Amino acid sequence: MRREPIQLKTGDTESVIHERTRCSRLDSPPEFAAGELLSEDTLRRNLKYAGKGLKVFKGSRLFPPEVISVGESTRIDEGVFIYGGAGVDIGCNVHIAAGAAIIGGGECRIGDFAGISARALIITGLEDINSGKPTNPTVPPECRVVKRGKVSVGAHAVVFAGAIVLPNVEIGEGAVVAAGAIVHHDLKPWRVYAGNPLVQVGARREGDIKKIAAMIR
Ligand SMILES: CC(C)(COP(=O)(O)OP(=O)(O)OC[C@H]1O[C@@H](n2cnc3c(N)ncnc32)[C@H](O)[C@@H]1OP(=O)(O)O)[C@@H](O)C(=O)NCCC(=O)NCCS
Repeated sequence: MRREPIQLKTGDTESVIHERTRCSRLDSPPEFAAGELLSEDTLRRNLKYAGKGLKVFKGSRLFPPEVISVGESTRIDEGVFIYGGAGVDIGCNVHIAAGAAIIGGGECRIGDFAGISARALIITGLEDINSGKPTNPTVPPECRVVKRGKVSVGAHAVVFAGAIVLPNVEIGEGAVVAAGAIVHHDLKPWRVYAGNPLVQVGARREGDIKKIAAMIR
């Protein structure tokens, strides 16, 4: 099928998605249709806060919604799993890609324009394996010790595909975690980190990035 060229407004990736959705509905069986969005009304009625223009694809799971806040123009793709725990607060213009997850029952804050790539995992709480008690949720709470913590991902930070962020870590503004890395300590702003163990491999242009972001918002 021939596709008409798509006119994009600055920063408007959503029209691409909608164009694809229209095309696939025309020539694919429903099993292969592109994803659909939850309605704005559903998001506003159930989430603690839902910003204007928020897009959450059906097939993601945000549970329990009343402890999860998501800001304006953020996009949460199909297959994302967010356990709200002690509170999850996601800023504006954030993208959380397919298969990413926030788990562990603690707190999580994600700043504006941050990106969480496919299958990245943010863990906000862990079993205490040194408590001398058994682990896992089938064990009654009084026989088990879970340490809940907090993860903070700064504005403009990127956690690339398959990376794992452990509890009580602060990823500084604009910092980047390369694919497959494990983050077990705080990361300085606007640096790029890769490998296991994690080392700094680069730096980003804070001024340029912020200038463009200011034009978008
Ligand atoms: C983080 C990333 C963007 C870094 O890119 P970059 O700034 O262009 O850096 P470079 O590719 O020049 O790599 C710098 C160094 O880090 C190393 N490095 C890069 N990515 C790495 C990774 N994932 N794990 C381990 N080392 C890595 C490179 O080998 C290089 O080391 P060297 O200087 O010894 O040769 C990129 O490596 C990455 O992880 N991409 C994954 C993107 C992704 O997940 N996309 C999916 C969703 S968009």
